[in-house]
Amino acid sequence: MNTGSSAIIIGASSRIGTALCEQWQKDQAIENIIAISRKPVPADISAQQGNVHYIQTEYDESSIAATCETIKSLANTVSRVCICNGILHNEDIWPEKRIEELNLDTLQQVFTINSFTPVLWLKALLPLVKSKDECIISVFSARIGSIDDNRSGGWYSYRASKAALNMLLKTAAIEYARRAANVKLIAFHPGTTDTPLSKPFQGSVKKENLFTPEYVASHLANVMNTQTIDGECAFVDWENKAIAW
Ligand SMILES: NC(=O)c1ccc[n+]([C@@H]2O[C@H](COP(=O)([O-])OP(=O)(O)OC[C@H]3O[C@@H](n4cnc5c(N)ncnc54)[C@H](OP(=O)(O)O)[C@@H]3O)[C@@H](O)[C@H]2O)c1
Repeated sequence: MNTGSSAIIIGASSRIGTALCEQWQKDQAIENIIAISRKPVPADISAQQGNVHYIQTEYDESSIAATCETIKSLANTVSRVCICNGILHNEDIWPEKRIEELNLDTLQQVFTINSFTPVLWLKALLPLVKSKDECIISVFSARIGSIDDNRSGGWYSYRASKAALNMLLKTAAIEYARRAANVKLIAFHPGTTDTPLSKPFQGSVKKENLFTPEYVASHLANVMNTQTIDGECAFVDWENKAIAW
C-alpha cells in the first residue's frame, strides 16, 4: 500500500466498522479515514477527529453521488473501502422462521439495505477507486448467504439478501476487472460478533464462538492486507478461509 492513502468506511456506526476505524487509525500507511453513516456525528466529537473525517448522509442515489463528490475533495489515493451496512432485525422486522411470516415490505427493506445499498456505493465509487494503485474493497456479507451451505433454512429475507449481495459483488468484480483492474472485492463474513445486530440471537452461541468487534476488525484488516489483486471476488471469513458460494 502507498503511504498517504485514504480509507473509507460506509455504514460507519456499525460496531465492527467503528473497531475497524480504530484499527486503521493505528496504521501508518493510512493517512486519513472517511467515515460515512446515516447517523449524526456523536455530539462529543467534531466532524474532523484526528485523521478521521465523518460524513452524515442518506443512502439514496443522489445523496451517495453528492457524498462521493465530498470524498473526492478529502481523499488521497483510496486504498481501502469497507461497506458495513446490514440489517437483520429492527422494531418492525424479525427474521422469518416460517414461510407464512414473509411479507413484501420486509423483503424490500432488507434487500434495499443489505443488497442494493452496497452495490449502489460500488457504482458511485468506481471513478474514485480506479487507479494504478491497489484498492481492497470489503463488503460485509454473511455465511448464511451461501446457497451451498443452506442446510437449516429460515431467515428468508436476510439469507436471500446476502446471497443477492454476493451475486452483485461477483458480477461487479467481473466488470471492475476490466475497468478498475487495481481493485480487489471481498464478500466478508465476520463470524458471530457481539453487536446490536446479533444481540437477540447470542443465547445459542458458545462464548468462544462470539467475537468482539475489535477481534473481527483486526482480522479483517489483516485479510485486506493479504489479498492478491486477481479480478475475482473472494467470499471469505475472518480467518481468510474461503466460503462456498
Ligand atoms: N454481528 C454479526 O454477528 C454478523 C454476522 C454476519 C454478518 N454480519 C454483517 O456485518 C455487518 C455489520 O453489522 P454489525 O454486526 O456491525 O451490526 P451493527 O453494529 O448493528 O451495524 C449496523 C450497520 O447497518 C447499517 N444500517 C442499519 N440500518 C440501516 C438502514 N436503515 N439503512 C442503511 N444502513 C443501515 C448501519 O449503517 P449506518 O452507520 O449508516 O447507520 C451499520 O453499518 C452487517 O452487514 C451484518 O449483516 C454481522
